[in-house]
Amino acid sequence: MNALEIRNKYLNYFKRKGHSIIPSAPLIPENDPSVLFNTAGMQPLVPYLLGQKHPSGTRLADYQKCVRTVDIDEVGDNRHLTYFEMLGNWSLGDYFKEESIAMSYEFLTKELEIPAEKISVTCFAGDSDCSRDDEAYNAWKKAGIPDERIYFYGKDDNWWIAGEEGPCGPDTEMFYDTGKEKCSPDCQPSCDCGKYVEIWNNVFMEFYKDKNGYSKLSQRNVDTGLGLERMTMLLEGKETPFETELFYPVMEKLIELQKVDDIKSRRIVAEHLRSSIMIVNDGGRPSNVDRGYILRRLIRRMTRHLNKLQIDLNKLDVFLDVSIDSIKELYPELVNNREYIKNVIIEEKNKFVKTLEHGEKEFEKVANKTKNSGNKVIDTQSVFNLYETYGFPPEMTEELAKEQGLEVDMSDFQKLFKEHQEKSRKGVEQKFKGGLASTGEKETKYHTATHLLNAALKRVLGDHVHQKGSNITEERMRFDFSHGAKMTDEEKKQVEDLVNEWIEQGLEVSFIEMSKDEAIKSGAECMFIEKYPERVTVYTIGDVSKELCGGPHVKNTSELGHFKIKKEEASSAGVRRIKAILE
Ligand code: SER
Repeated sequence: MNALEIRNKYLNYFKRKGHSIIPSAPLIPENDPSVLFNTAGMQPLVPYLLGQKHPSGTRLADYQKCVRTVDIDEVGDNRHLTYFEMLGNWSLGDYFKEESIAMSYEFLTKELEIPAEKISVTCFAGDSDCSRDDEAYNAWKKAGIPDERIYFYGKDDNWWIAGEEGPCGPDTEMFYDTGKEKCSPDCQPSCDCGKYVEIWNNVFMEFYKDKNGYSKLSQRNVDTGLGLERMTMLLEGKETPFETELFYPVMEKLIELQKVDDIKSRRIVAEHLRSSIMIVNDGGRPSNVDRGYILRRLIRRMTRHLNKLQIDLNKLDVFLDVSIDSIKELYPELVNNREYIKNVIIEEKNKFVKTLEHGEKEFEKVANKTKNSGNKVIDTQSVFNLYETYGFPPEMTEELAKEQGLEVDMSDFQKLFKEHQEKSRKGVEQKFKGGLASTGEKETKYHTATHLLNAALKRVLGDHVHQKGSNITEERMRFDFSHGAKMTDEEKKQVEDLVNEWIEQGLEVSFIEMSKDEAIKSGAECMFIEKYPERVTVYTIGDVSKELCGGPHVKNTSELGHFKIKKEEASSAGVRRIKAILE
C-alpha cells in the first residue's frame, strides 16, 4: 500500500465515521509568528481545542504538512525527517477515549489489515496531576488487545503537549512490532532498538497547562497523529523511509550519479530536498532570519552533501524533478509551482556554490590552526567570518568541525552575532531617516502609487505577491515583489488598468494609528513586521489597500495622474521588479 492509498483510506474511513475532511493548513502558520512552522496537526486547530466553534463541526479529519527542525542534525540516520505528513482525526468535545480507541483499532486491523498481534499499546501511568488512564486501558481491552501488550508509562512517554504551554493531556500510543528479536529480556515499546515502531498517537486533550500548572479545558478533545512516512515504510515492508517510494527514486538517482558512496549524505540530500521543496511551495524563501534561515540551512546542507558525493551540482535540477515527481500525487499543487520552486532552490544553491569551495578551504585552514594550537574549540571570530564571508551557517561549521573531532561554541557565536546585528540595525535606521527627509511632492505621489500597485498585483497575480523592496526617486518608482514567473503583457495591462481605474475613482487615502498586533489582525500588508515599533500607522486607500506604513501620502488618488509600467524584469529568484512612472 503506498502513501496516497494510506492517506485516502484514512480520510475515507473517518468520513464514514461522521468526520468532515478539512484541508491541510500551510506549513507556514497564518497569524502565528510564535512558531516557525506547523509542527503538528493540532497547531492550526488550537483555538477550536480551546472551545471556539469550528465551522465544519465537532468531528474533523485531515492530513497536515509538518516541519520539525529540532532534529535537523540527526537527519542522515535511518529514521529522522524534518518534513513529514501527519494524518489526524479530531474530536472537539465530541467522542472521547473509548470511541477514539475503537476507531483506531478498527482502522489499523480492518482497513490497513495489520495483524492484531503485531499491535502493542501504551497508556498513561498516572501521577499527582492526573490519575492512571484506566479508561483507555479498558477501551483497549474491549477492542481486543490483551494485557500483555498494554504498557503503562509516565509523563515522559504518555503525555502530549506542544512546547511549554497549551492544551495537553494523557495519550495512548500504538506500536507496530517488526518481529525483530527483543534486544533484551525487558525490551518494550519504550525501547528504541527498532523492534517496536510507534505508529499512532491519540491525545486526550482535556487539560490546559500554563505557568501556574494544569487546569481543565471547557471540553474534552481528542487529537490523533499518524505519521504517513512511517506507516508507508511499514506497509511497504521497508526498513527505513528512504527505501519507500517517497524517497527511493531520488536515492537511486544519487547512486547513479555519485562518485563517492555515502549513505548518510544520500539520505541528507533526499530528505532536505523534499523539505525545501515543501517549504518553498508554501511561500518560504531563504533568508538570514527565522524560517528563511532554516530553509537556507536545509539547502546549504543539502548542497554540501551533494558535494561530498562528488556529484556535479548542476544536476540539482534533475534531483528536484525526481523529488517532485515522487510526491506530486500527494501534493498536486507542486506541479504548477514546479518552476518557481526549482528556481528558488537552484538560485540559493548557486549563491552558495560560489563561496563553498573557498569556504571549505578557509575552514581547513581554521581547523588546522585550531589543532596546531592544541585546542578543540574553534575560535568564535573564525566561525563568524566563515558565516559572513562564505555564507557558512554556524551549524554547518559545527558539523564540519565534528567530522574532525573539533567543536564550535554556539552560544558564544550567538553573542557575537547579536552584537553585530545591533550595529547593522542602527545603520539601517540611519539610512531610513535620511531617505524620508528628502520626500517631496513627486515622491509622495509615487509612494501612494506603490500601495496601489501592490494591491493590483495581488488581485491580478494572486495572494502570494508581497512587497520585497521599493525605491522611489523623483523620476520613477521601483517595486520588487514575490512572484515566480515573468509577467505576460496581458497581466501587465491588467495591473496598469486597475491602478488607473483606482486613480480615476478618486479614492480617499486615510490613516489610523493602532498597536502592531491590531494591525496584523486587521490583515494589513506589511513588509518587515519586526522592524516596526509597537504603535504603527495603517494607511487605507478606499477599500482597495491597507498597509502598515510611515507615510507620507497624497490625500486622494485623483492627485496621481496616469500610471504606466515601463519595465518588468527579474530581480532575484522568485522576485520580480517593476519600474513605473506617473505621467
Ligand atoms: N499532537 C500529537 C502528535 O503530534 C498527536 O497528533 O503526536
